[in-house]
Amino acid sequence: MKKLFIVANWKSHKTTEEATEWLTHMAEGREQRAESEKHKDVIVCASFTLLPAMKAFITKHNLPIKLGAQDVSPFEAGAYTGEVNAEQLKHFVEYVIIGHSERRNYFGETDEMLSKKVQRAKLSKLTPIFCVQGKETPIPEEVTVVAYEPVEAIGSGHPDTPEDADEVAKTIKKQHPTVQYVLYGGSVTAENVKNFTKMSSIDGVLVGGASLDAAHFDQIIEKA
Ligand code: PGA
Repeated sequence: MKKLFIVANWKSHKTTEEATEWLTHMAEGREQRAESEKHKDVIVCASFTLLPAMKAFITKHNLPIKLGAQDVSPFEAGAYTGEVNAEQLKHFVEYVIIGHSERRNYFGETDEMLSKKVQRAKLSKLTPIFCVQGKETPIPEEVTVVAYEPVEAIGSGHPDTPEDADEVAKTIKKQHPTVQYVLYGGSVTAENVKNFTKMSSIDGVLVGGASLDAAHFDQIIEKA
């Protein structure tokens, strides 16, 4: 059975209290999920401010959930007001989303800057989940996990077809031999997740809106 990545991208949502409620739900459903969670890596990418409390909760309850950030500074520690660097993050997370289309569009992140972010993440032993919007999007050399997210599918309720996503995933792997895993993201729900994860070149999903409700995310893990 192939390993699947089930990644939640909470974007700029949830307070610490709401994040703790979400995790409490996940802790309660743990036993029922144990079987379906085998071969699945569940990763929650949350705002920086939520990470310390989430890390403490996950450790205390020994939950099989890993944490990720949604961004990282392209610089090391230094005079970069507002930035959170990879060395600071590594105490809380194993993964970091880099290159999401919202960062490219709203914050003007360029391919060059994204490549620096990947380097900084790698130096601190974080695994980048590098988002691409199509098969032409440049992918920095060190990247092993890619998420294909066509912009029009994000938050629209109109996902790509599983066949098209699989074709893109296959092409990315062929063009970039260092890429081991390609995830699909864009309007993934419990109802459609299996259509994507059953495709031969797709190794998991990146879930935005449908990850915010713990009960629904639970279903996504089970159905994937
Ligand atoms: P969505 O977002 O699941 O709400 O479409 C996915 C993403 O932007 O990562």
